[in-house]
Amino acid sequence: MGELEGKIAIVTGAAKGFGLASTKAFIDEGAKVVMTDVDDTEGQKQAEQFGDKAIFIKQDVSDEASWPEVFKKAEETFGPVNVLLNNAGILLFDNAEDVKMEDFHKILSVDLDGVMLG
Ligand SMILES: NC(=O)c1ccc[n+]([C@@H]2O[C@H](COP(=O)([O-])OP(=O)(O)OC[C@H]3O[C@@H](n4cnc5c(N)ncnc54)[C@H](O)[C@@H]3O)[C@@H](O)[C@H]2O)c1
Repeated sequence: MGELEGKIAIVTGAAKGFGLASTKAFIDEGAKVVMTDVDDTEGQKQAEQFGDKAIFIKQDVSDEASWPEVFKKAEETFGPVNVLLNNAGILLFDNAEDVKMEDFHKILSVDLDGVMLG
């Protein structure tokens, strides 16, 4: 029996990278997973490989209004949520002098606001 047998998980940023790998690992351990990402083309495509063990919902984690919708759909599909992996994140590598405040605030909105909202 897997360590997440019967658990319902939300994984953000699940279309690729750590989020997709975590989705696979969670499913291997018995969980059902709600995958979310801003990239709905890749997210939808990746979710198909998991059959009835995963669904995909398009979500920008920095959008406060998106969160109740994601939890509602998760509960309607699989039941009450037990696990949340706040994985979605963006990075910017640049000299501090060259970073535009607009880009800095975008990073904060995804990496901080998005996690707090979740
Ligand atoms: N790769 C590394 O070495 C590393 C190291 C430390 C921390 N991290 C963190 O781990 C997380 C995943 O890293 P990764 O390498 O798999 O990243 P990645 O760029 O491969 O994947 C991130 C996913 O998040 C999605 N995403 C971006 N903005 C989003 C938003 N606003 N709402 C929802 N989804 C959004 C992207 O579309 C993408 O599918 C990130 O938070 C990253 O900062 C990564």
